[in-house]
Amino acid sequence: MIDIRKLRYNYPDGTLALDSVDLHIGRGEFLVIAGRNGSGKSSLVRHMNALLLPSEGFVSVNGLCTSQKKHHPDIRRAVGMVFQEPDSQFIGMTVEEDIAFGPENLGLPSSRIRELVDMSMTTLGISGLRYLSPRSLSGGQKQKVATAGVLAMEPECVIFDEVTSMLDPLSRQEVLGAIRRIHAGGTTVIHVTHRLEEAVDADRLVIMDSGRIVADDLPRNVFMEHDLEGYGIEMPVMVTLSKMLARAGFSGRRLALTKEELLEDICQLR
Ligand SMILES: Nc1ncnc2c1ncn2[C@@H]1O[C@H](COP(=O)(O)OP(=O)(O)OP(=O)(O)O)[C@@H](O)[C@H]1O
Ligand SMILES: [Mg+2]
Repeated sequence: MIDIRKLRYNYPDGTLALDSVDLHIGRGEFLVIAGRNGSGKSSLVRHMNALLLPSEGFVSVNGLCTSQKKHHPDIRRAVGMVFQEPDSQFIGMTVEEDIAFGPENLGLPSSRIRELVDMSMTTLGISGLRYLSPRSLSGGQKQKVATAGVLAMEPECVIFDEVTSMLDPLSRQEVLGAIRRIHAGGTTVIHVTHRLEEAVDADRLVIMDSGRIVADDLPRNVFMEHDLEGYGIEMPVMVTLSKMLARAGFSGRRLALTKEELLEDICQLR
């Protein structure tokens, strides 16, 4: 669905943010992108809905090249984006109005707009917030409203750029649950995060460092084959424990990614 080849990007001030990036994302994939601050994650995903355009190389979405302006409406309809700071995205006085804004702009009939708003609120579990002001909500609720607003436009792909980073643990779990439901419904999901725990059930994990992709594989393979601390990111706790056990001579059958897997491995040791 998204094809990126030899992408290089310089900001207007000359900063080189991306260099030699090749990435191909298939329909329905759940891809996690991680990397230290300033490694180029946001710059990369902003190329996927034509918010940024390549300095060199090319990016295409559904075969449409982002460098051609006439394709931007179709590309932005196909690829929606939710940011870390949802406040800047709110337009409506109520949650319902806010979510309806996107489909209204697409000129859809009002009965269809109502259906889409209801469907999005149900997916995010926020129907009870319908008549509240988006600005009065908690951080987690705001992220859910922003996500519902993107979902109401029926995108084929949704990009989440560090949407969980400012949330408390409970809200984070709720937002992650919503992201998983959106993926389970057939939408391609690209989730940018600092927390590799959030990558354990992804189809693929991409690691960025200094504007380049330094790993792109199944999460388990990335955890086994790369020194992620060297790229400024912490391993999931379960993976660290599993590796410590292996170093201490308990030869686990494999690398455990979750609590359940680690427990299974420990039980096998007896
Ligand atoms: N508007 C801008 N103008 C100039 N340089 C920028 C701009 N935005 C980002 N950069 C630089 O581009 C590089 C990549 O930044 P980017 O924001 O893509 O990284 P990131 O991985 O998303 O970081 P973070 O984890 O902090 O969100 C960094 O060196 C950054 O300082
Ligand atoms: Mg960023």
